[in-house]
Amino acid sequence: MKVGCPKEIKPQEFRVGMTPNAAGEAVARGHEVIIESGAGLGAGFDNDAYVAAGARIVDTAEEVFATADMIVKVKEPQAVERKMLREGQLLFTYLHLAPDPDQTHDLLASGCTAIAYETVTDASGGLPLLAPMSEVAGRLAPQVGSWTLQKANGGRGVLMGGVPGVGPAKVVVIGGGVVGTHAAKIAAGMGADVTVLDRSLPRLRYLDDVFGAQFKNRYSTAGATAELIADADMVIGAVLIPGAAAPKLVSRAQLSTMKPGAVLVDVAIDQGGCFETSRATTHADPIYEVDGIMHYCVANMPGAVARTSTIALGNATMPFMLSLADKGWKQACQDDPHLLEGLNVHAGQLTYYAVGKALGIDVVSPNLVTKP
Ligand SMILES: NC(=O)c1ccc[n+]([C@@H]2O[C@H](COP(=O)([O-])OP(=O)(O)OC[C@H]3O[C@@H](n4cnc5c(N)ncnc54)[C@H](O)[C@@H]3O)[C@@H](O)[C@H]2O)c1
Repeated sequence: MKVGCPKEIKPQEFRVGMTPNAAGEAVARGHEVIIESGAGLGAGFDNDAYVAAGARIVDTAEEVFATADMIVKVKEPQAVERKMLREGQLLFTYLHLAPDPDQTHDLLASGCTAIAYETVTDASGGLPLLAPMSEVAGRLAPQVGSWTLQKANGGRGVLMGGVPGVGPAKVVVIGGGVVGTHAAKIAAGMGADVTVLDRSLPRLRYLDDVFGAQFKNRYSTAGATAELIADADMVIGAVLIPGAAAPKLVSRAQLSTMKPGAVLVDVAIDQGGCFETSRATTHADPIYEVDGIMHYCVANMPGAVARTSTIALGNATMPFMLSLADKGWKQACQDDPHLLEGLNVHAGQLTYYAVGKALGIDVVSPNLVTKP
């Protein structure tokens, strides 16, 4: 198979879909790997590293899209990239279609087959291609939140760990999945007083067993959220309903109940955000203020630590990428029900139920389109 990897063009996105090591593995199995010149530079991989792995470098994204049978990327294709997709071409990347009708309609119109990283599952019900980036974004959230809490950046001027004689910052994490657990771990490690809210009792039991007194947990209700945010210095939004838009858990009216200069970090912004006042921002201009409350809502947080993120993502995507290249998408999906869960679009049809529900579009069963 011809496997192509263009340079990411979303603002401030420095990750790349394939590492030289992943390219080398595909080449060793007889595939042809085509990389856009400079695609890996943001993550510290130059063209020579890909050439040494056996890949071919081309000058433009147009050449990658025109040549490749499968496009491997990081972020959802931008409008200009969507125009280059063609019928029968396979796209393997993050898509996040539920809050994005324009992208969904363009992908359907292109006739391509699109497998979304974020809806591929694993045997334990987890999301193995979302997990590494969730780990990164979760660990980054208290780091960027604590910077935003500084006075000069608009925050309350509160130090995460306090000092002897002065109490620590109060951090509330809504959603105790992968993002929330890693955020809570780092915030607690910085010395903050941390509470995690989740709707899942098994998850709360797990957090309690594993982390003990490092941080507290509460069952997530509107009442518990209202009580905790009123006393918080920082609230980290980390909820997920797989494939669907994030539920709005803090309203604009509730901002007036919070301390002036408190910080909201909405990690769930890539699914539309879990605070009513959230709107996606970029690394170039990450924070803004609403009613005295600071918001950090960068939709591609892992891009800030592109090298760590690229390697972590590549470790997770590579086995699926190789299976798709070796077998073709249909056979690979027939053989692996977890990869089949990633199928969102095929030949003008939507194949992922939660996206169809969010956007009001009819869905065809993925099992039907993969039938031999
Ligand atoms: N902004 C970024 O750069 C970035 C990077 C990675 C992940 N994300 C996003 O972060 C979010 C969380 O991802 P994750 O990997 O941690 O997901 P996850 O599935 O591991 O965890 C989500 C948790 O939210 C909980 N939840 C659902 N509804 C809830 C509610 N009403 N109240 C409290 N908890 C609730 C679930 O029980 C689950 O434990 C997703 O939207 C993901 O797309 C964003």
